[in-house]
Amino acid sequence: MSNNLDKAEINYQGKTSQFNIIKSSEGANAIDISGLRDKTGLITYDPGFQCSSAYKSKITHIDGQKGILRYRGIPIEELAEKSSFVETAFLLIYGYLPTNDQLNLFSNRLTEHSILHEDMKNFISYIQQHAHPMPILSTMVSTLSIFYSDVFDLEAREEKISDFDVNIVRLISKIRTIAAFAYKKSCGEPFVYPRHDLSYCANFLNMMFSSPVKPYAIDDEVVKILNAVLILHADHGQNCSTSTVRLVGSSQVNLFSAVCAGICALWGPLHGGANQKVIEMLADITKSGKSIQKIIDEAKDKNQPFRLMGFGHRVYKTYDPRAKMIKKICIDFLNKKSIADPILETALKLEEAALKDDYFIEKRLYPNVDFYSGIVYRALGIPTNMFTVMFAIGRLPGWIAHWKEMNETIPHKIGRPSQIYLGDGLKHFIPMDERKILI
Ligand SMILES: CC(C)(COP(=O)(O)OP(=O)(O)OC[C@H]1O[C@@H](n2cnc3c(N)ncnc32)[C@H](O)[C@@H]1OP(=O)(O)O)[C@@H](O)C(=O)NCCC(=O)NCCS
Repeated sequence: MSNNLDKAEINYQGKTSQFNIIKSSEGANAIDISGLRDKTGLITYDPGFQCSSAYKSKITHIDGQKGILRYRGIPIEELAEKSSFVETAFLLIYGYLPTNDQLNLFSNRLTEHSILHEDMKNFISYIQQHAHPMPILSTMVSTLSIFYSDVFDLEAREEKISDFDVNIVRLISKIRTIAAFAYKKSCGEPFVYPRHDLSYCANFLNMMFSSPVKPYAIDDEVVKILNAVLILHADHGQNCSTSTVRLVGSSQVNLFSAVCAGICALWGPLHGGANQKVIEMLADITKSGKSIQKIIDEAKDKNQPFRLMGFGHRVYKTYDPRAKMIKKICIDFLNKKSIADPILETALKLEEAALKDDYFIEKRLYPNVDFYSGIVYRALGIPTNMFTVMFAIGRLPGWIAHWKEMNETIPHKIGRPSQIYLGDGLKHFIPMDERKILI
């Protein structure tokens, strides 16, 4: 393959075909291979989509070599320090920082849509008590399309906004109510309704921790930290769950169904489920007294399935900037509250040992967003089985932003990857009594 500045050439079977280069505003340019099959008869093979872009996007820039992450051009460090989760959600979805009036309107809409339909509440109350909150979350988000499926949406007409925008606020608002109800269900406590006088994060904390016998005292410091941690999770380009939302949404299914698919993708331990696995791993090391070196050796041993959870990333080949921020938030908060968490001690020792180890250095494996986030959640009182739910609440604005961007892209193409078929050639049906047992 040869290339000049705006074309690339592929020589195959004596024929040279040219392909346009698409320039990115930052980061790697791309070869537009959309005509590859017609021109050459070839398709591409790229397991895990390591070198393939399916979309053009203006939402988030990541530089995995330099450890840079920006939402709509703004560094996450600035947003985590100066913005609120609701403001960052607006930024990601609509592409610009809101004015005071726009932010108030958006926040008020979130407040107004926070309550769940009583039938949804009843639905949650029938779910088996010890169910993990992640499948409750995905089920209930999917259920929103039962309750809000009208083509002519009355609430949207009353508020004079599009069906599209009303569903965005419904989802961002109700996800925290669903999440808190899922938690209350898992511990057998009564549901606590959202309150119109509380901000987004304070409302969530109150629904989680208030009870008829003990009201929850809202701590501004805790609210601030929750805002920052959610901001740091709010988008991350074409990760597994966001690509899932785009792929499912490309069939033009409704927002709730596409996000439900994203939540399911997030739950896996190689993605958002890693934050729960990290704490379980750290708690196990802390409790068992296993040596740090033994853990590192196990993670390097290719004969064992064990990996150091919260380490490594497809994109970052340096310290994940989100992990850097969360680690600082975590240490500052624990110090301020004089909380001595032995799990933090284990995490710090493990990180130090891994970053000195040749295997981790060679493969450029650093702590990712999940390594310290669970320790912060613990300090905020959030139970381990809710960690991935917290990730889902944080990632929701990113999913919505990508879904919106995709729906506004013309032409809108349904997602449909190719495959390389390696199965049998033509075979004929064998009647049952003539079949042999195949082992
Ligand atoms: C995040 C992750 C899935 C990225 O996967 P990926 O980009 O496909 O990278 P690979 O799985 O191919 O890893 C590259 C190499 O590093 C090794 N590696 C990656 N992460 C590792 C970890 N956490 N512990 C030990 N080895 C690891 C792999 O075994 C592989 O080694 P090899 O080249 O000798 O086969 C992977 O790093 C991982 O499983 N991390 C632990 C789970 C986690 O924290 N997930 C949250 C992500 S935010």
